[in-house]
Amino acid sequence: MESVEDIVIVGAGIAGLTTSLGLYRFKTKKLGIRSMVLESSESLRVTGFAFTVWTNAWKALDAVGIGNSLRQQHQQLRSIVATPTISGKPSSERSLKVQGKYGEHEMRCVRRKLLLETLAKELPSGTIRYSSQVVSIEESGHFKLLHLADGTILKTKVLIGCDGVNSIVAKWLGFKNPAFVGRSAIRGYSDFKGSHGFEPNFLQFFGKGLRSGFIPCDDQTIYWFFTWTSSSQDKELEDHSAELKQFVLGKLHDLPAQVKAVIEKTPLDSIISSRLQYRQPQEVLWGNISRGSVCVAGDALHPMTPDIGQGGCAALEDGIVLARCINEALKTKQGVGEEDEEEFNKRVEMGLKRYAKERRWRCFELISIAYLVGSIQQSDGKILNFLRDKILASFLVGLLLKKADFDCGNLTST
Ligand SMILES: Cc1cc2nc3c(=O)[nH]c(=O)nc-3n(C[C@H](O)[C@H](O)[C@H](O)COP(=O)(O)OP(=O)(O)OC[C@H]3O[C@@H](n4cnc5c(N)ncnc54)[C@H](O)[C@@H]3O)c2cc1C
Ligand SMILES: *[C@@H]1O[C@H](CO)[C@@H](O)[C@H](O)[C@H]1NC(C)=O
Ligand SMILES: *[C@@H]1O[C@H](CO)[C@@H](O)[C@H](O)[C@H]1NC(C)=O
Repeated sequence: MESVEDIVIVGAGIAGLTTSLGLYRFKTKKLGIRSMVLESSESLRVTGFAFTVWTNAWKALDAVGIGNSLRQQHQQLRSIVATPTISGKPSSERSLKVQGKYGEHEMRCVRRKLLLETLAKELPSGTIRYSSQVVSIEESGHFKLLHLADGTILKTKVLIGCDGVNSIVAKWLGFKNPAFVGRSAIRGYSDFKGSHGFEPNFLQFFGKGLRSGFIPCDDQTIYWFFTWTSSSQDKELEDHSAELKQFVLGKLHDLPAQVKAVIEKTPLDSIISSRLQYRQPQEVLWGNISRGSVCVAGDALHPMTPDIGQGGCAALEDGIVLARCINEALKTKQGVGEEDEEEFNKRVEMGLKRYAKERRWRCFELISIAYLVGSIQQSDGKILNFLRDKILASFLVGLLLKKADFDCGNLTST
C-alpha cells in the first residue's frame, strides 16, 4: 500500500524547521504531531552566514525551546551606532537595552548554520528527507500528490510551502514570482580566530545610496553586509568573490581602517552577493495564503528586502503561529484526534485559515516598511540625500526597534 503523510513541509530552512518543531513540541496525551520535511539539497542549506535576530524572533525561539542554547553562543548587542559617511562622525548611538511593550529588547547576530542545526537536532530523526526536490503538485481527492525530481511521488493530506523566494507552493496558490527591486546585497563573514576587539555594537554606515553594517556574532566573528543600487553589469560580479571584495572595498574606501580590515580579512569563500527581491505587499493582502489544506510560510509567503532585517525573524514568527493554529485545530478532548480523513482535513483547513488571518497584516507591514526604507536609501536627489543621511540614521533605528516589538505568542493559546 502506498504511504500517506499527514503533513508535508517543503523546505528545511528557518520557516520549515521551526514549523515542524512547533508541531512536534505540541504534546498532549500522545506524542507531538509528526511532519515530514522535504529538502532539495543533500544537507542543510545555509545561505548568508548570519542574520540579525530581533526581540520578536527571540520570543519565537523561546516558544520552541531553543532560545537559551542560541543565546549562550551569541553576544547580546548593546547599541546601534549609525554613521553618515559624508561626515564620518557617528550621528546616533541608540541603546538596544530599552523596554518595549513585551519586555526589554534583545538583539543578537546569529549564525544561520547553528540555528538550522539546533532546530534540526531537536526533531525526531528521519523527519528531514534530503535530496527531495518537489517539482510539481497535483490534486487528488482529499490529498496532494507531490512529484519529486527523482520520480518519487508522495501523497499528503496537508502541504506547507516553506520553500523560499522561488516557492512552487506559492505559485500553486496563485502568487506571482517575486520582483527584483534594483538593488543587490553583498554579505560576508569574518572569523578572527581570536578576539576581534570590537564592542558588541551594530555599526551602520550610510551615504550616497549605499548602506553597510558590521555586527559581531561573538567575540571572534563578525558578519557584515553592503547594499547598493545594482546594474546589469554588476550581475557579472556575482560569481567572482575576489572582485566582489574589491568592489566593496572600493565603495567603502572612506570607512575607518579598523572596519575596512574586517572586509579585508574575509576569506573569499565567505562572501556572497544576492539580488534583492520582494513580493508586492498588496499581493499578500489579497492573495491566498492558504487554500484548503495548503499554505505558505517564510520567504515563500513574504519575500522582503533586508532593510529592516526582519525576513528571517518573520519566518520564525510564521512557524510558531502556523504550528499553534494546527495544534489548536487538531486538539480534541482525547488529545490529538485520529478521526477520518474528511474531519482531519476540515480541522486543518480551519487552522490554516486562522494562521492566514493572523499573519496577513504583519507580513504586509513588514514588506512595505522594508521596501520603503530601501527606496529612501536608493533615491538620489541632493536635498533628499542630505536629509536622508542626517535623519534616516536615527529614524531607522527607532523603526527597527518598533517592528521588533512584537510577540507572536506560544505554541498553544492560553
Ligand atoms: C542580503 C540579505 C540579508 C538578510 N538579512 C536578514 C537579517 O539580518 N535578518 C532577518 O531576519 N532576515 C534577513 N534576511 C532574510 C532571510 O534570509 C530570509 O527571510 C530567510 O532565510 C527565509 O527563510 P525560509 O525558511 O523562508 O526560506 P529559505 O531560507 O530560502 O529556505 C528554503 C528552503 O527550501 C528549500 N527548497 C526550495 N525549493 C524547494 C523545492 N521545490 N523542494 C524542496 N526543497 C526546496 C531550499 O533548498 C531551502 O533550504 C536577509 C536576506 C537577504 C537576501
Ligand atoms: C484564491 O483562490 C480562489 C479559489 O479558491 C481563486 O478563485 C482566486 O482567484 C485565488 N486568488 C488569487 C489572488 O489567486
Ligand atoms: C509564552 O510562554 C512564556 C513562558 O511560559 C511566558 O513567559 C509568555 O508570557 C508566554 N507568551 C504569551 C504571549 O502567552
